[in-house]
This record gives sequence, structure tokens and C-alpha cells, in this order.
Amino acid sequence: MNTQFIVSPHGSLQGYHRVAGDKSISHRAIMLGALAEGTTQINGFLEGEDTLCTLDAFRAMGVAIEKPAYGKVVIQGVGLHGLIAPKQPLYLGNSGTSMRLLAGLLAGQAFSVTMTGDASLSKRPMRRVTDPLKLMGAHIETNAAGTPPLYVQGQSTLKGIEYVMPIASAQVKSCLLLAGLYAQGTTCIVEPAPTRDHSERMLMGFGYPIERTDNRVCIESGHKLRAMSIEIPTDISSAAFFMVGASIATGSNITLQHVGINPTRTGVIEILRLMGADIQLNNMREMGGEPVADIQVRASELHGIQIPAALVPLAIDEFPVLFIAAACAKGETRLTDAKELRVKESDRIQVMADGLQQVGIQAQPTEDGIVIQGGQIQGGSVHSHGDHRIAMAFTIAALRATQPITINDCANVATSFPNFVSIAQAAGIKMQVLEESC
Ligand code: S3P
Repeated sequence: MNTQFIVSPHGSLQGYHRVAGDKSISHRAIMLGALAEGTTQINGFLEGEDTLCTLDAFRAMGVAIEKPAYGKVVIQGVGLHGLIAPKQPLYLGNSGTSMRLLAGLLAGQAFSVTMTGDASLSKRPMRRVTDPLKLMGAHIETNAAGTPPLYVQGQSTLKGIEYVMPIASAQVKSCLLLAGLYAQGTTCIVEPAPTRDHSERMLMGFGYPIERTDNRVCIESGHKLRAMSIEIPTDISSAAFFMVGASIATGSNITLQHVGINPTRTGVIEILRLMGADIQLNNMREMGGEPVADIQVRASELHGIQIPAALVPLAIDEFPVLFIAAACAKGETRLTDAKELRVKESDRIQVMADGLQQVGIQAQPTEDGIVIQGGQIQGGSVHSHGDHRIAMAFTIAALRATQPITINDCANVATSFPNFVSIAQAAGIKMQVLEESC
């Protein structure tokens, strides 16, 4: 089946909306809740396909997890050494976060596991986690291309290492922190640039000591995780679609409620403000160790910028929709230092450049970024290549198009934002969803 979004041109975004729960925090809440001692209660869990893959993986490893209501999860933690061997390989769908974080966690178990994924995940690079895990003593294999399936052999004796990460990646950092729970001595990770720190915050929330200085984080084995209650904020990466939508659609005034504004995630706000966006953070508060705010965005005239390299890791998932902002901005927007975008759920540089050209925007891909000339978005048909964020980005583009935009292969929007269509419609986007057999 080809799930198509057909989005009418024009419109503005209005009202108060609560987007889906934070994906990164939801994954980590399941993982740490499962390894903790006692009962962990989660509210605001993202019921998306990716995070449900993580949840199913822990059920398959013997953890009792209940979902008494939408967004609520109750986990009976089994402790750091209580997981049991799954009967089947763990299937992790589209979710790179599940596979990379689990690689670290499973490297320290007594049993062996194979992890598989869908066509997109099966093409994603895994040596970034297997190389340092091998340095720690793990027996872990990818296929010849360095891609999944991943085979993790049990009963390895892990030892702590000091690892200087060659790329800025929260997934790699988190993978090694989880392996560090099982490694002899201390595991330290040095980041080339700050990346999201949800793992560090949540480990501390579960009472596990870690040491943090500037760009280095260390963890020592031998301590315990204590169950807790977790209130998960909504995902700034999902809110970003409506932040850009409200910025580019004349007359818009929208408020996105209860959004996580962890400073390692707010690059999208900073980039949009540099482009001239009108964004206000209201009702700022802290919930469960994470800062939260209601984000109000009003329409404004955007202008092109050179995106500062330091903001790239802090907005890494928001570039597809930021490219739509650039397409609607006056002048040129340049992105560099963003090679990582080529190995996300799709090659986001190439796929976005192709889609933008398809709807009449000049977009020149470069090796590590893109150059976009602001202009008039036309209508047309684009392909998301099964990438949720590409599908949602082009939905937003229609707000400034002259004709409808049809987006193909949109089913994977359910991996991160299952209620995207209903929130988009409630906010003012005129769209329909068609299921077409291919
Ligand atoms: C994530 C980290 C980022 C991000 C991904 C989620 C996480 O990946 O793109 O969607 O939850 O740690 P990298 O760490 O590979 O940049």
C-alpha cells in the first residue's frame, strides 16, 4: 500500500495543540524502567511504532509491561541482571535509536541476541556503535557492509574505556553509557559537540550516579537503578513542523503545549529566530528533570541565513522542515557540516533537494549540506522515501504552495507522530489521506 497525503494549498495555523510525546525520552524510559528495581510509571509515552518496538523488545526479554491507558505505561523492572533471552530475533522496525541503544545494553547480557529492522534500518551504519563496543570487549557483528542485522553474543566481559567520539551522536553516547552499566571500571565518552543528554538526565533521575564535565560523561558499573515516575514532555521534533508552518503561513498564531525545551534540542528555535521567526516560550517549567514550555509562534517574514555549524547537532532531526522554512525565506540559506543527514531514515539532503526541485524551488545538495534559494512553492508530487520527517515537511510546504502537493509513501509518519494528520487538520491544514495499492 502507498499511503498518500494530498494537501491543499494555503491556510494558516491557529489554536492550542499538544503534539506527540518525545521519542528519545520514551525509548529511554522503557529501557531504564526495565532495568530498574521496582515499578516505573510513565505518562505521556509516545505510542509510535519506533517506541513500541523498544517496548516489545523488552517484553520479549521477559519484562512485564502494561499499558493501562493511552500514553501510560507501567513497567515491572527486573533489575540490571534480570533480562532473559528472547525466543526470536528482536525486530526493531524503522528505529535506529532502538537498535543502537540496545546494542550497548545487550552487549553486557549473559545471552546472545540478533536484532533486525525494516528496509531503511537495514541500510543504516552500525559500526559507529560496534567499533567502540568491541573496544570494550563485546562480541558483536554486523553484516559485511556494517549494517544490520546485528548479532550480539552473550557472556562477554566488558571493560570500561575512554572513547572520543568521531561524530556528534547521542545514540552512540547513549549506547556506550548503557554498556558502561555492565563494564568493569569506568566508561567515559567525550563528545566533539554537545548532543541530546536525555540519557544522562534520566540515569540521574533513576538514581544512577554519573559524572559530567563539559564534553565528557563517565559512568561506573556496580550501582543500581531505582524505579521512578516519569512525565514525558511532547517532542520538539514533532512541534517543529507546526513551528515552521505557523512561521510561513500568513495570519498564523499557534501555541504548542508542554514541549520539551532541553537546551540540547532547541537548535530549531535558534535557527528559526535567526531567520526572523516570531517565537515565544511561555509558562516555562521543569518536569521530571527536563525543561518544558508552551511555544507560541506567529507568522513572520523569514530571511535566508548561513546556518551556524554549532547548531547542527542541536537541530539534527529538524532539517527537513527547516528546509521548507528556507524555501519560503527571502534570499539564500546555506547548510554545511551536516553530513549525518545523509544516513538518517533516508538521505535527507538528496531526498529533500529532489522534493524541493519537484515543487519549483532551487535546492543544490552539497556533500555535507544544501543551498536553498527562497522562492514560490508550486504544487506537485513528491516522494518521502518512507521517511516520516520528509512526509511531514512537505505537508507543511503546502501552506505556501500555489497548487496541491501530493506526498507518496507516508505510512512511516506513524513511527514518530501517529496523530500528525488529526493535529494538522485541527490546526488548519486541509489534507486528506489516501491508501493506494501499488
Ligand atoms: C536520537 C539521536 C539522534 C536523532 C535520533 C534520535 C536519540 O541521532 O537523529 O532521531 O534518541 O538519541 P544521532 O545520535 O545518530 O545523531
